[in-house]
Amino acid sequence: MVDVRDDSFYAAVGGHETFVRLVDEFYRGVATDPVLRPMYPEEDLGPAAERLTHFLEQYWGGPTTYSEQRGHPRLRMRHAPYKVNPDARDRWMLHMRAALDSLALAPLHHAELWDYLERAAHSMLNTFDD
Ligand code: HEM
Repeated sequence: MVDVRDDSFYAAVGGHETFVRLVDEFYRGVATDPVLRPMYPEEDLGPAAERLTHFLEQYWGGPTTYSEQRGHPRLRMRHAPYKVNPDARDRWMLHMRAALDSLALAPLHHAELWDYLERAAHSMLNTFDD
């Protein structure tokens, strides 16, 4: 694939297929979540799943499709319209952790990815209101 280094974390964990599996599994969880599901503006979660897949792929050294389509990530700003309180954050992390576990990556890869996702989720918190 063009522009993807063989030594990227993206390539090491299995490339596109791995990130699609991660995000699809995550959204399967979101679809059943009574707090998170209503936050997603579109009826179909497919486009949101695609944006998250592209973002994560780009972050880990894969194709830069995310920025080509969406520009600078500015993730905190993009989450400002949504109430990301501790409950929403914990639910996001629960579904993401289950999705990550389902990949059965090598322990170091699993740990590196989880460390990032956990920190990113904490950084998205934007309210303590219920
Ligand atoms: C902490 C709890 C979080 C909640 C409740 C949450 C919720 C949402 C919602 C409702 C959207 C709009 C759906 C869409 O149209 O795409 C969204 C978008 C998005 N989220 Fe989150 N999110 C959380 C954390 C994160 C984290 C930790 C990341 C990154 C690691 C992330 C990455 C994204 C991306 C890339 C988009 C699409 C941005 C765009 O280009 O418009 N989110 N999120």
